[in-house]
Amino acid sequence: MKAPVVLLLAVSCANPSSPARSASPEGTELPVTTAMHRQLILVDTMRESVIAADLDAAGRASRKLAAMPEVAGAPPEWGPWLARVRDSAARVDDTWTLQTAARTVADIGRTCGGCHASTGGGPRFGNDGTPAAPKEGLRGHMVHHKAAVDGMWEGLITADTLHFARAAKALSEERPELADGPQGKRLHDLAGQAAKAKSLASRADVFGEVIAACAECHAGRDAVRKGQ
Ligand code: HEC
Ligand code: HEC
Repeated sequence: MKAPVVLLLAVSCANPSSPARSASPEGTELPVTTAMHRQLILVDTMRESVIAADLDAAGRASRKLAAMPEVAGAPPEWGPWLARVRDSAARVDDTWTLQTAARTVADIGRTCGGCHASTGGGPRFGNDGTPAAPKEGLRGHMVHHKAAVDGMWEGLITADTLHFARAAKALSEERPELADGPQGKRLHDLAGQAAKAKSLASRADVFGEVIAACAECHAGRDAVRKGQ
């Protein structure tokens, strides 16, 4: 089955080839940098699959994240954070919908951001969250949507309030004539709320609603297409 909206997975790791810090065998434990990169790739896949309304792909990535090996040499205080990522990711079951998948991505993003804030670790992104100005037409509009959501995500997982807010503001300020009916309007309203969100928790909540709104419109198109 072909997903209606094809998203390119942008792997935003700063340096995927960094040397391993520990020689633990694959399968039981992963060196911290490898583990972090793998988490990022899996949760990016979940996020992009939700946006593309591909529930199965989101579920597969979530299961993999839930089954991640331990992080080698993780200090005890990391335990609860890593367990939270796993618990959220283990949520896939018969009640898995695009809505719950969107919330799961948001919950995980909140935990990534919370732990990075508390440990001072985390990825660095070489931009301030502001997406490039949108190009003409539906495609340009969607590419801008995607770039803005990427910026919000980066801000969420690095607990960088301003990075998140700049991206959300750009999404909320997109030319209104391109806001496509009630779904488009809802998305712009949510982005406006996101730009004002004060806490990591509220940023995560509204991020989940934003990607659920993307998914809802894309899923509708899928349904139209399948019915043809
Ligand atoms: C237990 C706390 C904790 C959690 C939870 C956590 N991280 Fe990290 N992360 C860290 C720390 C600490 C570093 C810095 C590691 C280092 O360089 O020693 C880091 C670094 C990173 C890096 C940069 C790796 C590099 O050096 O290139 C990425 C990417 C990353 N984390 C992604 C994520 C994502 C995505 C999540 C959520 C799925 C996540 N992390 C959850 C603690 C955490
Ligand atoms: C009002 C409906 C609607 C909303 C809301 C919406 N999209 Fe789209 N999107 C579309 C349509 C229509 C297409 C074209 C898909 C097709 O050809 O079936 C599309 C395609 C895309 C594409 C593929 C563009 C390409 O490269 O061809 C991306 C990426 C995308 N959307 C991202 C997003 C993101 C991110 C959001 C949420 C912030 C979002 N969209 C919200 C209707 C919508």
